[in-house]
Amino acid sequence: MTKTSPKWIVVAAARPNFMKVAPLIRAIHVHNALNKGDIHPVLVHTGQHYDVNMSDAFFSDLRLPEPDVHLGVGSGTHGEQTGKVLIEFEKVLSREQPDLVIVVGDVNSTLACTLAAVKLHIPVAHVEAGLRSFDRDMPEEINRLVTDALSDYLFTPSPDGDENLLKEGIPKEKIFLVGDIMVDSLLFSLEHAKKTDILERLGLKSNKESPLLTSAFPVEFPTNRDHSTGDLRPPTPVMPYALLTLHRPSNVDNKTSLGRITQGLLEVASKIPILFPIHPRTKKQVELFGMENAFEFHPSVDLSPVDYYEDMTLKKKIHCFEPLGYLDFLNLMAHAKIVLTDSGGIQEETTVLNIPCITLRDTTERPITLTQGTNVLVHDDPEKIVAEVTKILEGKARQGICPSIWDGHTAERIVNILAKSVILRTEWNSGNVP
Ligand code: UD1
Repeated sequence: MTKTSPKWIVVAAARPNFMKVAPLIRAIHVHNALNKGDIHPVLVHTGQHYDVNMSDAFFSDLRLPEPDVHLGVGSGTHGEQTGKVLIEFEKVLSREQPDLVIVVGDVNSTLACTLAAVKLHIPVAHVEAGLRSFDRDMPEEINRLVTDALSDYLFTPSPDGDENLLKEGIPKEKIFLVGDIMVDSLLFSLEHAKKTDILERLGLKSNKESPLLTSAFPVEFPTNRDHSTGDLRPPTPVMPYALLTLHRPSNVDNKTSLGRITQGLLEVASKIPILFPIHPRTKKQVELFGMENAFEFHPSVDLSPVDYYEDMTLKKKIHCFEPLGYLDFLNLMAHAKIVLTDSGGIQEETTVLNIPCITLRDTTERPITLTQGTNVLVHDDPEKIVAEVTKILEGKARQGICPSIWDGHTAERIVNILAKSVILRTEWNSGNVP
């Protein structure tokens, strides 16, 4: 019997997936080059996110190849979106006959693709397994539980993930602690990201002398080493700002929660400018609830340099612009004084960057960012939001450490583990193992 190349489908769907998939594709190619391997990766984009700045921009920023297959499922209710992916992905599986499907994260497509594959007896590897918020009101929690229950290889980012899976009865042999794959992308891209012009475009690299730069808000700069020489780079003179992301349905689809968060944020805005690349869901909800007064919608990120501190009207607004690509956002995050967020991945990225993170949720599926990192939970409580910001502005931010296994080599570990066991299984099934 002739041996065919192992074919691995890698699934990407929504914005938080792309930075998890890029290191995997790269690691497969490196593995092939180092081991004379012939693993054939097939990149499938389900199209759950489809706007240029929610999807295409990430492909170019992360140097991801064009998807081999695009399902174009788009938005819909949870049932519609999950159902469409299930139907379309099953057709891809029947046509491609892969040896393995790799899914990442916890979006609706993660669940749908897993379900389609296991029904056809195709092994599934779940990257970022074992995370639990223990809040089943979150659609992502349902996606995580079902995906983990069905997967054959569960790759966890931190030991709490292993513990959760073991408690749910997943056999130990299926669980592999490999670290956080988002950190692979972050470390791979950080130096490059710091060279984008987003700080200039937002008027944050001010040449103007402002007393506030040195008195009320002394700026601390992330330590910056030149990779080639190892020398410390001089700090970038950046106006202090808070960076906001906010899009969880529990926060933005509920008028009371969005109102409470906005109330806290407006008080913060009087102390430090808040920059908000606004998610389409949040923009719709702000308009629906008639809360536009609290937000200044800038038509683009190409703002003329604005002195956010001296214009009284600007102090009363949250400054919104279109969602950013990966590199611009990473640059903005790396230079932020504070990050306020309800995202999952940003809690991890701020821990790696040692930037204070105030999470607008009452639970987290990433508890290691609370115990070791820079993260703190405030939910939608305006007083807590303001109190945590005040601590940071007074120089009392909590100091974190980066979990040791978050070292930028997670994808390599995953591909090495899979290459050994999946290739063996494929050869066994095709009768090539003596
Ligand atoms: C999804 C994920 C969430 C992730 C988030 C990151 C699920 C259940 N949720 O939530 O875990 O944190 O992505 O963004 O999978 N829309 C656009 N353009 C787009 C995509 C969406 O305008 O490219 C609009 C649509 O009107 C859509 C809404 O945003 O109805 C929400 O999109 P959807 O994919 O349903 O969920 P997210 O809130 O983005």
